[in-house]
Amino acid sequence: MRLDRKERPFFAVEGKPGPTQIEGALTHYYRNSLKNCALHVPTHATILAFCPVRLPSWSGRTALPHSYMLQIFSDPLSIAEYVSDTLIDRIQAKPDVVLGLATGGTMEPIYARFVDEARQSNLDVSRLTSFNLDEYIGLRPDHPKSYSAYMRDHLFQHLEFDAARLHVPDGMAQDLAAHCKAYAARLRECGGIDLQLLGVGGNGHIGFNEPGTAFDCPCHVVELAEQTRIDNSRFFAKGAIVPGSAITMGLAEIMEAREILLVATGESKAQIVADRYQGGVTEAIPFTVLKRHPRATIILDEAAASLLPVDAL
Ligand code: F6R
Repeated sequence: MRLDRKERPFFAVEGKPGPTQIEGALTHYYRNSLKNCALHVPTHATILAFCPVRLPSWSGRTALPHSYMLQIFSDPLSIAEYVSDTLIDRIQAKPDVVLGLATGGTMEPIYARFVDEARQSNLDVSRLTSFNLDEYIGLRPDHPKSYSAYMRDHLFQHLEFDAARLHVPDGMAQDLAAHCKAYAARLRECGGIDLQLLGVGGNGHIGFNEPGTAFDCPCHVVELAEQTRIDNSRFFAKGAIVPGSAITMGLAEIMEAREILLVATGESKAQIVADRYQGGVTEAIPFTVLKRHPRATIILDEAAASLLPVDAL
């Protein structure tokens, strides 16, 4: 295997994938033009296609414990480039695509890159529909720390979206349970999510589905875990109170997305990434449910991948 560009990602499908995953892997392989990657299809049907950047000891190993697609990039900016290209590809292929969107620090470089590229290529975003994952309860949409404000600041105000197609849960809804039902119903009416972007919390939450959430749970109100409030206090002024509850799309809606890209960057995500990798599928780590999704890709930078148990494989 010869690599001429260091930043080409490690690319792997692990375990013993079925036909859907093999097809998904090959689609990724060609779509992303990883032309210098080696693609291995051993006889027992485990695929490994890889460009080992810093993880050469994975090379040639095939009996990895779980089935999911994993891509490792050198840094968050390379990830932003890749995810932004994927978004543009999906929007060009289907201008009325339905996107599931996340907020948080992980997504910031991704949205910044997407805005730049979309502007440069005059991308038409006016027909796409989006559904955000979550919103704090008790914050008005114009509150600077609400996720509505986050989306406006990082994405919505920069391109010609159709505001009527952009959905963020309403953290001020009078009847929260009814609002959750209506949000899920609206998503169904729009045909469900084509491409879902996800980050992951240090405790393994996706959306705000905290540890212990049932995998079949639909959009709901959640009490945020203490660790989540501590982690997210970095976005609030010193001494400000981080809201204790939120509305979140459920794992049910997330798992119905036709394609999922989960991004984890930085050392603070390394432990949960390693825990997910080694363990089974458990409600104690909501992130593990993605092992059951036929087209979920886990995208890591080297820092987030740094505790993966390379030598244990
Ligand atoms: C945000 C969301 C959360 C975040 C997660 C990681 O809409 O759904 O699951 O993706 O808390 O947040 P960051 O990226 O700030 O580490």
